[in-house]
Amino acid sequence: MIEISGVYKRFGANSVLNGVSAHVSPGEVVCLIGPSGSGKSTLLRCINGLEAYDAGSITVLGKHVDATGKEINALRRQVGMVFQRFNLFPHRTVLENVMEGPIHVNREKPAIARQAAVTLLDKVGLSTKLNAYPKQLSGGQQQRVAIARSLAMSPKVMLFDEPTSALDPELVGEVLTVMRSLANDGMTMVVVTHEMQFAKEVADRVWFLHGGSIVEEGSAPEVLNAPREPRTREFLRRVLGPGSVRDTASAEAPPDGARGLRDIRLDDPSTCIPGRTSGRTI
Ligand SMILES: Nc1ncnc2c1ncn2[C@@H]1O[C@H](COP(=O)(O)OP(=O)(O)O)[C@@H](O)[C@H]1O
Ligand SMILES: [Mg+2]
Repeated sequence: MIEISGVYKRFGANSVLNGVSAHVSPGEVVCLIGPSGSGKSTLLRCINGLEAYDAGSITVLGKHVDATGKEINALRRQVGMVFQRFNLFPHRTVLENVMEGPIHVNREKPAIARQAAVTLLDKVGLSTKLNAYPKQLSGGQQQRVAIARSLAMSPKVMLFDEPTSALDPELVGEVLTVMRSLANDGMTMVVVTHEMQFAKEVADRVWFLHGGSIVEEGSAPEVLNAPREPRTREFLRRVLGPGSVRDTASAEAPPDGARGLRDIRLDDPSTCIPGRTSGRTI
């Protein structure tokens, strides 16, 4: 569904992506983790053609991604993107925000766009807010509108760039719940996140990006519980706290008193605190 092969990108003298190769299969959820400045946002932006890359190739649904080409708008309609900041139209209601793209970009009939928007807003738990304006909503509600707005274009792939990082901690869960249900519905997703519990629970695979290269990738338990790379271990220790990551892939469980990801339980919120990193730039 997404094929990335030997992609390089530099900004002036700054080499931001250094030969990234990876793929995403249909229905797969990939969580992209890594330190600030490692190139996560740039990689996502290259995937949907918001940023041109210098070398290598990216294809989405078999089509070459060329940010300057004629077909880029058609491709972007297939690839939804949700950012840290929601950028809703402030003078339009929630319903109007979600109907906007289908009517003006896809030329759908207003009655049909409206029906679809109502259904989507119900899906993200906002059926009582159809006529509210963005400023009347919490950050979590606004982000759920942004997700519904993106889904209204019927994308085949959804890219999320730290969708919960700007939210107050108590609002993170409602957005993750919507994303989890999207994943359960079979949506293909690439999610940049520092929410490690979410990654562990939802991701089919995790990519760890460091210095513009994917230095480790594997299943969520492999990468998050038993990382092979010292750079992955160091990053996870910083995010999750000391004692959270085993020293080697074959090492025993964390020492007494330390809590590994394995021990974090969603049904016991107190155990989620070590993974709570929202709002903090790593
Ligand atoms: N438009 C840009 N112009 C110049 N430098 C940029 C631009 N976008 C990103 N960068 C640089 O690229 C590097 C990677 O940025 P980014 O992809 O945003 O990393 P991340 O999302 O992992 O924090 C950083 O050094 C950043 O300063
Ligand atoms: Mg970023």
